[in-house]
Amino acid sequence: MNDSKKYLYVINYPAYEEELCMLEMRALFDREPEDKVLISQIKFNPSNSIFIKKRLEIIYEKETLQEILDYLEKDEMHLKDFKCEYLRLQKGNISYEERIKSTREVGLRIIGNSTMIEPETILGVTKYNDKWFLGINENNDCKWHLHETKPCSYSNSLSVRTARVLVNIASKGDSKKKIIDPCCGVATTLVEGLSMGYDIFGYEINPKIVKNAKINLKHFDLETKIMKKDMHEIKENYDASIIDIPYGLFSHTTEKDQQDIINTARRISKRMVMVSFEILDEMVLNAGFEIIDRCTVTKGTFKRYILVCQ
Ligand SMILES: C[S@@+](CC[C@H](N)C(=O)[O-])C[C@H]1O[C@@H](n2cnc3c(N)ncnc32)[C@H](O)[C@@H]1O
Repeated sequence: MNDSKKYLYVINYPAYEEELCMLEMRALFDREPEDKVLISQIKFNPSNSIFIKKRLEIIYEKETLQEILDYLEKDEMHLKDFKCEYLRLQKGNISYEERIKSTREVGLRIIGNSTMIEPETILGVTKYNDKWFLGINENNDCKWHLHETKPCSYSNSLSVRTARVLVNIASKGDSKKKIIDPCCGVATTLVEGLSMGYDIFGYEINPKIVKNAKINLKHFDLETKIMKKDMHEIKENYDASIIDIPYGLFSHTTEKDQQDIINTARRISKRMVMVSFEILDEMVLNAGFEIIDRCTVTKGTFKRYILVCQ
């Protein structure tokens, strides 16, 4: 969503997921964070990204803290129950005493009840690139961690973290986009997509796996937006597909099967986000896709390739 407001996002990631984070940020915001901070006019729910820790809806952006304090006095901000915290950033942090002073001085200029217990509004103050910011802070609620324990999962299921990123990249953060996971397994991407409010549907050819996928969706009180079907029979068209490509190590998938899956993804979707254990660029190009972005996620000896194609 675009409005005249500006948002300061505080980002963090483990070193092995840096590339994945940058890929998600490019898809959502058309740019990468600098020093784990990203400022954008695009409004994105911080709880929908595993990498966004906080979102500050900027009210004042000034050269000095004193200017912000002067504006607060002039504008007479009324808040019922509030607290004010300092957002510590990766770079350019000020001393503990300065941080405490800044939140106290802001708090003193708000008309309302300052409370640490369940405040209605959390104000955030921070200094970034020699500028001071004050705004409404929203923290990532981290509720997605609950999805890490599913009733049914397989060794080749995607992790919750990867699934969430894939859905964000496929949709570019737009909940109006129609997304399809045509080889959805036990519904890992569906659980993430549906819980984030995206329009996502899944197909799976194996009836036992479909049964388990439905158990997972019901477990999290989500609509069972999945059908047992061979993806090659899909007639509808989608804005984007997510393809976690079946791999010979886990199933009897041949190279021809993989090529057919990518060909069908091309037929049914304008955009494809594909995850694989091998480099399959040639198949993707053969299917008529252009590779517009990519990353590799390496954890120990484990490597996964993610392609964004149109
Ligand atoms: C790599 S697994 C997907 C795992 C899934 N992302 C998860 O986290 O559970 C690939 C899945 O594609 C399914 N599949 C293979 N060929 C298919 C086809 N033609 N139509 C639909 N599903 C298919 C397989 O049964 C398998 O469950």
